[in-house]
Amino acid sequence: MSTKRWYRQCKVVHGVVGDALVVKVPGSGCFKRLEGAARSIWEAVEYPADVDEVVSGLCLEYGGDPGQIAEDTASFLSQLLCCDLVAALEKEPGPEDRQRRRYLWLLKRSLVNLTYPEYELLIATVDHFSKEQNLVKRQEMVCDIRRLYSDRYRDLLDSKNCGNARVSFAHTMVGLQRLHNVERCAETLFAEGVDGDFLEAGVCRGGMAIFMRALQVSHGESQRNVWAADSFMGLPEPQDKVDLEAGMDLTVKKHPWLSVGVGDVKDHFRRYGLLDAHVHFLSGWFQESLGSAPIRQLALLRIDAD
Ligand SMILES: C[S@@+](CC[C@H](N)C(=O)[O-])C[C@H]1O[C@@H](n2cnc3c(N)ncnc32)[C@H](O)[C@@H]1O
Repeated sequence: MSTKRWYRQCKVVHGVVGDALVVKVPGSGCFKRLEGAARSIWEAVEYPADVDEVVSGLCLEYGGDPGQIAEDTASFLSQLLCCDLVAALEKEPGPEDRQRRRYLWLLKRSLVNLTYPEYELLIATVDHFSKEQNLVKRQEMVCDIRRLYSDRYRDLLDSKNCGNARVSFAHTMVGLQRLHNVERCAETLFAEGVDGDFLEAGVCRGGMAIFMRALQVSHGESQRNVWAADSFMGLPEPQDKVDLEAGMDLTVKKHPWLSVGVGDVKDHFRRYGLLDAHVHFLSGWFQESLGSAPIRQLALLRIDAD
C-alpha cells in the first residue's frame, strides 16, 4: 500500500449541483462532477491523508470490501492527480502539524456553523413552528428537523460549503471553500517569509478575520496583526446607477442581519480565544478608515464588502 498522503489542490473552484460537487479542472475549461463516494474522497483529502485513512472513512460510510475500496480509491486519486485536482506528499506530517490541522479543520466548521446547522433550520422555521398547534408535529420538528425538511437541510449544508446563503447567522457567511483559500494563501506566505499583517475589509460577524488570527497563532506567526475593517453598521446606501436601477439596497433598513456592532465582533473573537493585542478594529466607512490606518505593511488583503 502506498504511504503517499493526498491532498486537494487549493486553486480548485467548487460548486454544488444537487448532491454533486462540481469542480473545475485547473488549466482547462473542463469540470468534474463528484458524487457519492467520489465526493467523500474529495472531502477526506482537505488535509493530507493516506489511502488507509480515506478508506476507513468510506468503509464506515458505505460498507463493502475494504480491499476493493482501497484499490478503487487509489485509482480514483491517481485520476485526480493526473488532472491536477489533488497533489501527493511523500512525507509523514509531524504531531504538531497534525494537531494544527485538526484544530483548523474544526475551527472552519465551527465558523460556518457546520457543528449545529440543524438549529439554523429550526430558527428559519420557527415562525411556522410557533403557529403549529399540533403537539406531535411540533415535537417531530424539534426532534429531527433534518429529516422533516431534508431538501432545505441539504441546501443549508451546501451553502456552508460554497458560502452562498441568502441569510447566514454563522460567524462567517463565506463558506468553507473561501476559508480553505485563505488558509492556503497564509500557508504560502508563511512558507515564503512574506512580511506583513492580514486585513479584511468587510468582516460582518468576524468569522473570516477570526480565522486569519487563528492561522497566525497556530502557525507560530502571532507577532503579525489582523486588521478588521467595517462600518460595523452594515452596508452604505447604494450610489451606482446600476444598483439604484436594480433596487439593490443592502442597508440596515432592508438587511439588518448584515449590520453587526464592533462589540459583538470582539465578543466573537473572544469566544474562540483569539482576541488579543494583535487584533485591531478599523471602524467606519472604508473611504474614511482605511487610508489613515496605522498599518506598517500588509501581506494579505481580503475585500468582502459586496
Ligand atoms: C458580506 S459581509 C462580510 C462577510 C464576512 N467577511 C464574513 O466573514 O462573513 C460585508 C460587510 O462589509 C461591510 N461594508 C460594506 N461596504 C462597506 C463600506 N463602504 N465601508 C465599511 N464597511 C462596509 C458591511 O458592514 C458588512 O459587514
